[in-house]
Amino acid sequence: MALTPAESSGRAADAESRAGGDDIAGKLAAWGRSFEPVLDALLTPGPAVPTVLAEAVRYSAQGGGKRVRPFIVTRICELCGGSATDATPAAAALECVHAFSLVHDDLPAMDDDDLRRGRPTCHRVYGEAVAILAGDALLALAFEIAATRIADAGTARAVVVELAQGTGWGGMIGGQTTDIESEEQPTDLALVETIHRYKTARLLEAAGRLGALSARASAAQLAAAASYGHHLGRAFQIADDLLDVTGDAALLGKAVAKDAAAGKQTYPAAVGVDASRQAAWDAARQAIEALADFGPQADDLRALARYVVERKK
Ligand code: IPE
Ligand code: IPE
Ligand code: MG
Ligand code: MG
Ligand code: MG
Repeated sequence: MALTPAESSGRAADAESRAGGDDIAGKLAAWGRSFEPVLDALLTPGPAVPTVLAEAVRYSAQGGGKRVRPFIVTRICELCGGSATDATPAAAALECVHAFSLVHDDLPAMDDDDLRRGRPTCHRVYGEAVAILAGDALLALAFEIAATRIADAGTARAVVVELAQGTGWGGMIGGQTTDIESEEQPTDLALVETIHRYKTARLLEAAGRLGALSARASAAQLAAAASYGHHLGRAFQIADDLLDVTGDAALLGKAVAKDAAAGKQTYPAAVGVDASRQAAWDAARQAIEALADFGPQADDLRALARYVVERKK
């Protein structure tokens, strides 16, 4: 398995990646296009919804996201014996939470960003007050979708609980709090790892778990899926930190070189670029190891773990 940076840049690794993943970037993009109308249908506002709020919500949830989290929900569900349709409510709900997290992350009081997915951020288009409210609405919508669109009551309850725990004060929101509170403090690798675990890896762990729960998978499958998402999420945020240092703003669709300026706790600030790349590959390897019992049908998720490290956007 080609996982070191040196190997991954070689031709042999490229060939292996294609053989194992069958062009995961293309597959993810195609899957994302197929997910757009599904999400769109779930984001149809009722007559009581103010027009500007409906527009801000739809603007933030649509257009340009990689859809990594709902893809994982869906593929894990399928690997555990469920269908893509079984996965749809949890996948859409998690993407709504993710969209909410980005709208609030970009606010002036948080990271103060003007560009997201190559477009002005929600508050740049609709103003700060509507952006805050659009984030709130996306969060509530996530729970409405999970609670109303899953036929089996036990599955719906389990999905709601996982969404709440992954999102809330002991999950992504807690991680975002530590991220903001730790700005301008001396760089500390243990603190960086804690921030990554909660602000980013926790929702990717939720993606794994939600896929398994949607399929009513076994406890062993649930644990494997959670471990995959957790380690992939760690790799994902180390790569995100690296892209802020080494990436291309035009490809990323968001500003670069912001983290150091804001005094953020990041992996490259803690250990440098090369050791961060190694750490991202180590986390991707751990994600791949978690899939051992899923066999060759999980090759696209293995390729996804490599892709999150190699990605340019
Ligand atoms: C960005 O997430 C926020 C982080 C957790 C680093 P993504 O890179 O998945 O954002 P989109 O949805 O593809 O734009
Ligand atoms: C965001 O981390 C994690 C979230 C929960 C949204 P970042 O602040 O590094 O994400 P980007 O770089 O703005 O996408
Ligand atoms: Mg942030
Ligand atoms: Mg940010
Ligand atoms: Mg970032």
